[in-house]
Amino acid sequence: MTHRKIIVLDTTLRDGEQVPGAKLNVHQKIEMAVQLKRLNVDIIEAGFPASSQGDFQAVQEIVRTVGDAVSITALARAVKDDIDAVYQSIKEAQNPLIHIVLGTSNIHVEKKFNRSKEAVMQMGVDAVKYAKTLLPHVQYSTEDASRSDFEYLWKTIESVVKAGATMINVPDTVGFAVPEEFGDLIRRINERLKNLDDKVILSVHCHNDLGLATANTLSAIRNGADKIECTINGLGERAGNASLEEVVMALKVRESAYKAYTDIRTTELLRASRLVTHLTGLDVQVNKAITGENAFAHSSGIHQDGLLKDKQVYEIMSPEDVGADSMELILTARSGRHAFKNAVEKMGFDTSDAADFEALFQKFLTLADAKKEVYDHDVFYLVTSHRTVSN
Ligand code: KIV
Ligand code: ZN
Repeated sequence: MTHRKIIVLDTTLRDGEQVPGAKLNVHQKIEMAVQLKRLNVDIIEAGFPASSQGDFQAVQEIVRTVGDAVSITALARAVKDDIDAVYQSIKEAQNPLIHIVLGTSNIHVEKKFNRSKEAVMQMGVDAVKYAKTLLPHVQYSTEDASRSDFEYLWKTIESVVKAGATMINVPDTVGFAVPEEFGDLIRRINERLKNLDDKVILSVHCHNDLGLATANTLSAIRNGADKIECTINGLGERAGNASLEEVVMALKVRESAYKAYTDIRTTELLRASRLVTHLTGLDVQVNKAITGENAFAHSSGIHQDGLLKDKQVYEIMSPEDVGADSMELILTARSGRHAFKNAVEKMGFDTSDAADFEALFQKFLTLADAKKEVYDHDVFYLVTSHRTVSN
């Protein structure tokens, strides 16, 4: 049996950026989008253009910078103005996708919209029909799907697919699902969806309130999901979203178990993680899987002894797989501008402003004189503190 390709949508710039304290300016968003392109994600969710003029412009700039190489989407509620804002901001991309979200759980229907279930469903259908007059690709998210009545959820999916939706995204909006149950939900939807229209892509979007976002995403893949939505460092509302690096590496290390793979360039993962940390100021925990400082550190004597005999004794993937080796730097005061620039760029930082780079280089020389040997983490903190002071 051939292995399935899983489409990866990164929503660091939309769901991730909703986190308090993680607001990015337009230049930072572009820096992030360029890194997402290097990572080779299939789709970037660039923002929520109806939320502010700044967000609208940032989405447009992202489209202009990477929209020829990566599919771009942005979020709309099921209302005409939001859909227009998304269309206007992404229409120049090579492969634009309108993303519409509307709740399907009783609590959303009753408390958020205070309308009948039929009326809410009709809102969704009308929104999809309108979006289809603008673009061929429309994703519909059934917000709070994991707490929805299954038959109503399915009726909504069936209706929006008939109205033209090309992707159905099933969110576990509040991180309520557990892997067996979420997998079962995806399997049931998938069976019906394949009978209705087997070209429609089935997607999942998991939150981490119970620490299960990665497990739920993998369970969904096992049960037929074709596409996953994640963020770098698992950044996102409350406890965050499924972490891209975790799901991608789980598929890479256990590809034969899932019979599925992604096109993510995994050697860019650490750089992406560090860039998010740098841009948002939100650190990852030291023992975070894949990108935490201790993810590949072995301290006990028994483990070190085993590793020296054969790395595979205690390693299921190598640091090089996630880009750790390419980041290993030992610079000295004699390394020169070229080597230093290369080191800074390898970490995903922009060096295009010549005056800013020169100022940074002078700080590097001072540090190198004092420390003699400058390692990757020194360079990272040097750039981070320099940019924080000069911004
Ligand atoms: O968590 C959620 O339901 C969302 C949707 C917009 C997909 O972020
Ligand atoms: Zn979300």
